Formats: sequence, structure tokens, C-alpha cells
Amino acid sequence: MHETAQSAADEPNALAPAARIASPPRVIAIANQKGGVGKTTTAINLGTALAAVGEQVLILDLDPQGNASTGLGIDRRMRRYSTYDVLMGQATLHDAVTPTAVPRLFIAPSTLDLSGFELEMSQARDRALLLRRGLAPLRAATSHYDFSYVLIDCPPSLNLLTVNALTAADAVLVPLQCEFFALEGLTQLLSTVGSVKSALNPALVVHGIVLTMHDARNNLSNQVVDDVRANSKEKVYATVIPRNVRVSEAPSYGKPVLVYDLKCVSSEAYLRLATEIIQREKELTGSASQAADAAAHQEQQHAAMMMKPP
Ligand SMILES: Nc1ncnc2c1ncn2[C@@H]1O[C@H](COP(=O)(O)OP(=O)(O)O)[C@@H](O)[C@H]1O
Ligand SMILES: [Mg+2]
Repeated sequence: MHETAQSAADEPNALAPAARIASPPRVIAIANQKGGVGKTTTAINLGTALAAVGEQVLILDLDPQGNASTGLGIDRRMRRYSTYDVLMGQATLHDAVTPTAVPRLFIAPSTLDLSGFELEMSQARDRALLLRRGLAPLRAATSHYDFSYVLIDCPPSLNLLTVNALTAADAVLVPLQCEFFALEGLTQLLSTVGSVKSALNPALVVHGIVLTMHDARNNLSNQVVDDVRANSKEKVYATVIPRNVRVSEAPSYGKPVLVYDLKCVSSEAYLRLATEIIQREKELTGSASQAADAAAHQEQQHAAMMMKPP
């Protein structure tokens, strides 16, 4: 685990000194095959907002461009181990996890090596399972990790990296930009999610859709919000992220917008989104555990009937 000069020494560490029983984190893939829709911005700022309300968060940068890593101020020279090394089994997740300047927010950075991943692995039988395998230590019953959320920043493509993310995730979060062709491509994305769910990861769900770069003064932007809400069967978050120049300035300072300008409308929106995500998580995990309870109850009744003397 790497140290950044400012932060690591006095901040709570996600790695406890000894193995302990921890509940596994929720792994959320942030995916949309379109570029420039706000995936990386959402990974950085939702991650920061979740950390701000007390969650332990790991961002996994799965885009060869490494914008999430750069946007969080992780210099290329500091990326000794990357998500590529974790995928290839050349390093453990522990090696790649790097603290950021934000308390409770960590990142596994990416490097350009990732751009060769698809070609290098095209013949490997288990090529879709590599990230899931790399993240297995997070889900071990006794884990050194204490993350409550892992956010995967996916590349702008439905390629093998995105399939690895969907295979390793519990849920998918889809950012949609408030523009004319917002819904274009959503069907294809959801169909990829469906294929991964049926072939590789039955537990995968769509967490929800977040509308980004909304401009309240623009009629088209408002129309897109209405259309997406009316036409999408998936949950659309009540929080809409406004377009704001502070958001696009922040990455050049290596800072999340919540750190760069906490009071701007977009920072406030990302904080509201974090609250919605946590609420939605409660519903999802609550209904999952209710389903498990119901199944267990049914099994007990069945067992009791089998035990009954005729
Ligand atoms: N709410 C916003 N307001 C203004 N600019 C934004 C906002 N969200 C994202 N951007 C800018 O739009 C561009 C694309 O966003 P990004 O998150 O990198 O998209 P993706 O990861 O989907 O390619 C970036 O320059 C980013 O700074
Ligand atoms: Mg990106």
C-alpha cells in the first residue's frame, strides 16, 4: 500500500492491522459505453461524497486513460501497481490500493498498460473473471479490508474491461448525460448487463440511472430528464447533477469538486446522490436478505415436514 505525503499517516486506514471479520463491501460498476457522459466525474465525486458521510470507499480505475487517478491527484510516478497488475495476477489488490488526500477515500489507479489487456487476454478461458478474482480478498470472511463501497470507473466501451467490471460487481450505476441522444445506447448497455447476469454473475442488478450535466435554463435538458424518467424502467435517481464549470475545473487541480468548491451546486448534488445511493443500498440489501430469510424459512418448514412422523 502506498502512502501519500499529506494524508495517510493520520487518517483512518482501510487496512486494519490484523485480519478481522468484516462485512464485504458493495461493489458498484459505473458504466456507459459512451465517452464524456460523466462516469469518471461520478466515480470521483460520489466516492468523495460517500467518504464525507463516513463510508470507507475504494475507487477502481479501470479506464486506460486513468482520468479518475489523475483527477484524484495520483501522479503517474506513484502508480507502481495498477489495476492492470491486479487483473493479470501480477500484484494483489493490497499492492495497488493507494490513499488519496480525501480521508477514507482510496484508489487502485490505472496505467496505459490496461489498453493492451483485451488483446493480451483474448484467448484466456477465464478472461471475464479476472477482476472478480482480484477482488476476492475484499469478500473473504476474514478480510484485512474495511471498505464499505467499491466504485469501478469503467472505460467508454462495452469491452472486456467493462465485462470484467460487471462480472465483479453487485450493481451497475449508469450516468446519462442530459443531451438529445441520452437514451441511445442504453438498450445495448442493459443487454450486456443482462448477458453478464445470466452467464457470469446472477446477483448483478441495475442500481440506477443518474442524469448528469443538467442545464436548468435549457429546455432540451429539461425535456431529456422528463423523457428518461418516463421511458426508463430502471430507477432514475431523484438527484440530477447540474452542469457547472467548477466540476470541469477541479480535475486539473487533482481534486474532487467537493474539495475544490464544497458549496457549488454540483458538490451539493453529489452529496444528495450519496444519500440516495445509501438509501437504495438499504432497500437492495434489505430485500436480498428478506429473500434469503424467506428461502431459509421455507427450507426449515420443508425440513420440519420431512422430520414429522407420518
Ligand atoms: N456536472 C458537470 N458539469 C460540468 N462539466 C462536467 C460535469 N460532469 C462532467 N463534466 C465534464 O465533462 C467531461 C466528461 O466527463 P467524464 O466524467 O470524464 O466522462 P466519462 O468518464 O463518461 O468519459 C469532463 O471534462 C468533465 O470535467
Ligand atoms: Mg472516464
